[in-house]
Amino acid sequence: MKERILVTGGTGYIGSHTVVELQNSGYDVVIVDNLSNSNADVVDNIEAVSGIRPAFEKVDCLDYKALEAVFAKYDGIKGIIHFAASKAVGESVQKPLLYYRNNLVSLINVLELMPAYGVEGIIFSSSCTVYGQPDHLPVTEQAPIKKAESPYGNTKQVNEEIIRDTVASGSPISAILLRYFNPIGAHPSALLGELPNGVPQNLVPYITQTAIGIRPQLSVFGDDYNTPDGSCIRDFINIVDLARAHVVAMARILGKKQKEKVEVFNIGTGRGLSVLELIHAFEKATGVKLNYKIVGRRAGDIEQVWADPQYANNELGWKAETPIEDTLESAWKWQLKLRERGIQ
Ligand code: NAD
Ligand code: WQD
Repeated sequence: MKERILVTGGTGYIGSHTVVELQNSGYDVVIVDNLSNSNADVVDNIEAVSGIRPAFEKVDCLDYKALEAVFAKYDGIKGIIHFAASKAVGESVQKPLLYYRNNLVSLINVLELMPAYGVEGIIFSSSCTVYGQPDHLPVTEQAPIKKAESPYGNTKQVNEEIIRDTVASGSPISAILLRYFNPIGAHPSALLGELPNGVPQNLVPYITQTAIGIRPQLSVFGDDYNTPDGSCIRDFINIVDLARAHVVAMARILGKKQKEKVEVFNIGTGRGLSVLELIHAFEKATGVKLNYKIVGRRAGDIEQVWADPQYANNELGWKAETPIEDTLESAWKWQLKLRERGIQ
């Protein structure tokens, strides 16, 4: 019998790729998503990629009763991967209560339901944003948590604490907190990727939209940082590599291989790339010249951060493998496919 996994936010960017990797590894997947930042046709595309149609329930994780009905309907859910959250940093500054409500209450509902339905473990989508500007690079999981720069970032910190407190209180569940660095790219089939939602805040969607002519110019936010070329440095992690980390983390939980009931892993490549290096890698990978200009710094940006992924490499047996050029090419193919589908 296939083990059954519930994926909240499973039609979203990271969720959809993870569902495919779970299916490829033999798991039976149930998706819960309220479609606040995704579309139902993602389910068709997941099926087109994996050959298996996942169960899908349009449910809001804030709705405890509706969420409970999903646990009741799909017997024997073993593990949960909890992606469902609001994620736009700037919007969280404008609408903090929306972010606190959605991101905290959704998790609380999931954690309350897990023991009642015998669900063994949860994987939580955390972020390198919890480290702020680290004192040492590459940053390890032991680095101190810095005061959050935004309500969004704060929800990640508080949610990590909620999970720790719940497990410490004796709840019979275990957890893995995955701290993602900067996920980019799309599925190589160009059937799954990040759906656009207004003017992109993140670098790679802005690059691909500029390259295709939706935006006239890319602004590079600052070239006067204390880095070799003056632009900020990030650890850009391929979306499929990232998705695979969830599969091995779930196997670790269900195989009872955890060293502690709550474990934390950095999910990054271990390589820092500057914004300018990424732009040039995109031009090289795609042959498309980008129109960009250097402008002032963006408020709240971290100067440089990249992961020490050793612990994840050793313990999970997982490693980011995809070359950056392939990742950027996949982002470009996705942008071209969006145009084909008439999506801007
Ligand atoms: P996404 O917006 O593409 O996916 C999130 C999905 O959750 C969407 O499909 C949305 O409709 C759904 N959702 C939101 N609130 C919900 C609710 N109350 N009930 C049910 N469904 C709900 O975002 P993503 O980039 O795939 O991110 C997934 C997770 O990873 C989020 O928790 C995000 O904070 C975290 N994360 C993302 C990044 C990143 O750069 N993309 C980095 C670090 C962490
Ligand atoms: C990367 C670099 C920008 C756009 C954010 C969240 C973080 C995490 C991932 C979820 C920065 C520069 C960007 C542009 C630019 N999300 N940039 N021009 O800021 O590292 O992280 O997404 O947890 O919490 O804060 O990612 O893609 O926005 O920016 O020059 O038009 O690209 O200044 O240096 P960031 P990003």
